[in-house]
Amino acid sequence: MPIAIPRSRIRDLLARSEPLAGVCAKGWVRTVRRGKEVAFLELNDGSCLASLQVVAEPSLAALADPGLGTGACVGVSGELVPSPAAGQRWELRASAIELLGGADETYPLQKKRHTLEYLRSIAHLRPRANTFGALFRLRSALAFATHRFYRERGFVYVHTPIITASDCEGAGELFRVTTLDPQQPPLEKGKVDWREDFFAEKTGLTVSGQLEGELCALALGDIYTFGPTFRAENSNTSRHAAEFWMIEPEMAFADLQDDCRLAEDFLRYLVTFALDECGDDLVFFNERVEPGLIARLEALAKAEFSTMTYSEAVTRLEQSGKAFQFPVAWGGDLQSEHERYLTEEVVKGPLFVTDYPADLKAFYMRLNDDRKTVAAMDLLVPRVGEIIGGSQREERLDVLRERMAVKGVAEEGLWWYLDSRRWGSCPHAGFGLGFERLLMYISGMENIRDVIPFPRTPGSAKF
Ligand code: 4AD
Ligand code: MG
Repeated sequence: MPIAIPRSRIRDLLARSEPLAGVCAKGWVRTVRRGKEVAFLELNDGSCLASLQVVAEPSLAALADPGLGTGACVGVSGELVPSPAAGQRWELRASAIELLGGADETYPLQKKRHTLEYLRSIAHLRPRANTFGALFRLRSALAFATHRFYRERGFVYVHTPIITASDCEGAGELFRVTTLDPQQPPLEKGKVDWREDFFAEKTGLTVSGQLEGELCALALGDIYTFGPTFRAENSNTSRHAAEFWMIEPEMAFADLQDDCRLAEDFLRYLVTFALDECGDDLVFFNERVEPGLIARLEALAKAEFSTMTYSEAVTRLEQSGKAFQFPVAWGGDLQSEHERYLTEEVVKGPLFVTDYPADLKAFYMRLNDDRKTVAAMDLLVPRVGEIIGGSQREERLDVLRERMAVKGVAEEGLWWYLDSRRWGSCPHAGFGLGFERLLMYISGMENIRDVIPFPRTPGSAKF
């Protein structure tokens, strides 16, 4: 007999201070124990980490169904009563159980500890595992916190295009977007004629919404974007995904210092929000993923963020006496091992590294007076390394054109960007926070594949 009462979320039921009659809970069975006198079901509906203990007479018809096993979906109606069992306040005394979707013993997520590697291979089912339920709730909460942070500060949320003809970072990592027939593309002098393509030019998926974000900042003052970005970089690491989400604020009338201050406030806000609003899930990560996680986050919420220029960082690395795999020299990119040494061992906390050599950074970063470095900043944090990358932007038309020439960035495709410096330009700055890196940092998870529901990485676009 179908149950007609509206569903209650298990999270709400478990938070009650009074018993409740006429309850209907729906969810997925974690375990079933069929005793002679009484049967127990552990029911989880994803609304919170905890499951609801269901206590039932073994005579209830659904319990005889072999499909009512771990993984089955059921609706249970009954009464919420105080539980005599230790460790739980409430249990649901069932008067009826409806089997909505059976699951037999072939269900791949039987109740036991599974490795993260195994769970990745069943990403279609892993949202039902505790770790991933907790992660995806955390992810949702932090997305909300992001919007709240910027809204409270009067930033305007803008949507920048996903399909674009410009490679903002200049790293040539655009995924191609085309409707041309790969077998027989139209040719012009032996080369593909992109004018024949859908957009009448060569297009790809965006690597960053920044350039368009700047145009909006130069009209609306303070803006931010929050969207998916795509990079066809063939780096199969635990910190790189081909599809990831980025939050990119951009402020008019701002310099690098303002940029660092905003980044610091933002990260602190997100960590504090997680501590305040995602307590149960963080306790789980603290126990199962990274012992000491909560203490680390609480420390961050109060910590001073350190700052050091790239040149100082290189000196520190040279003087460290450490045998790094990659050599350190002024002008070379900081590798992950260098970043982690600086943030984990030198300052033991979040660290802004500023004023990188111009050669290492994108064309749009503001050239410093030394003409060798740019007003760039990377925020490095323990365990994760770079979590934020940003800069003050080159607002001077002549210097920008010079920099584009040096970097080999064609003016032709970016005439509109140059126009923003031609008319009504002003100092402005912004950054990008990698949302998955943030989640790794806040949950303690070590692989980017485990903080996004369906990861896209080289060789893998399943699910
Ligand atoms: O340092 P990036 O490349 O900076 C930009 O894209 C600028 N346009 C941002 C801006 O100033 N508006 O990327 C910013 C952040 C990195 O610090 C990192 O957290 C994340 O994006 N990120 C990635 N996250 C996951 N997978 C990848 N492949 C990533 N590449 C960058
Ligand atoms: Mg970067």
